[in-house]
Amino acid sequence: MDIAVIGSNMVDLISYIDKIPKEGETLEAPDFEIGCGGKGANQAVAAAKMGSKVMMVTKVGDDLFADNTIQNLESFGIDTEFTSKVSGTSSGVAPIFVDPESKNRILIIKGANQHLMPEDVDRAAEKLKACSLIVLQLEIPLPTVYRAIEFCNEHGIPVILNPAPASKDLDFDYVCNSDFFVPNESELEILTGMPVESDEQIRAAASVLNEKGVTNVIVTMGSRGVMWVTKEKTQTVESHKVAAIDTTGAGDAFIGCFAHFIVKNGDVLHAIKMATAFAALSVIKRGTQSSYPTTEEVEEFLKSRV
Ligand code: RIB
Repeated sequence: MDIAVIGSNMVDLISYIDKIPKEGETLEAPDFEIGCGGKGANQAVAAAKMGSKVMMVTKVGDDLFADNTIQNLESFGIDTEFTSKVSGTSSGVAPIFVDPESKNRILIIKGANQHLMPEDVDRAAEKLKACSLIVLQLEIPLPTVYRAIEFCNEHGIPVILNPAPASKDLDFDYVCNSDFFVPNESELEILTGMPVESDEQIRAAASVLNEKGVTNVIVTMGSRGVMWVTKEKTQTVESHKVAAIDTTGAGDAFIGCFAHFIVKNGDVLHAIKMATAFAALSVIKRGTQSSYPTTEEVEEFLKSRV
């Protein structure tokens, strides 16, 4: 197995809106789509679409969404042996609002994701030990994230931690044991309490994390590109200019594709460049996982940019 994602799945309920209603107001919105999402599942699907062998440790509810979520993961070839149902609980859902500028606002109701426990990591231990990389986010209980980092360290498995959604409770004693820490600017701001308006401010905030022991801080900055900060150097990769219509899940697209290339050849800069292209293609279509490109589409896109 190449990659294990230990994390969340959600059902995305995406409303394409002209504007947010005021209190007490009813407004009509032009469109709606339902699709599979959740930061963990999105990252797993992105890596699988690029060709990685992926397993997912996650929990669904016992509602009408559960089987569809499992079937969706399997349709991308993702191993669901450690994807299980929690009785008496709903699956995670995410009402999402996308505005005409392609920007999104997301609510998450975690449901079954809250039941993914540290013991679930240990239950999957034998299979996890055979993975080349483990990918984590913060839509599951923090103790489970910490146990997963510990597990990776015990077995020498590299780990990517995407601190999303940002939690001020995140314990940096664990974070500093991740190999790649991948926040967006707003998560970096919340986690460090530092301003992130300019590139220099972002670099300074990321450097604070380097000082705390995080080797690679990779900040995704949307249309401003990606900044990779280590103690030794800072490198920025520009974003591709595309006509974005829905940015939902673009950060997850980046992480899943990045994970794929890290496993493939370990070249961080190349992985960032490929993931930047993959994420750019994801914003020119509506939806979350449904907007992720194929490997052929990524290749064609890169050829057209030379
Ligand atoms: O990052 C985008 C994702 O955040 C959505 O798919 C939604 O489910 C939430 O988890």
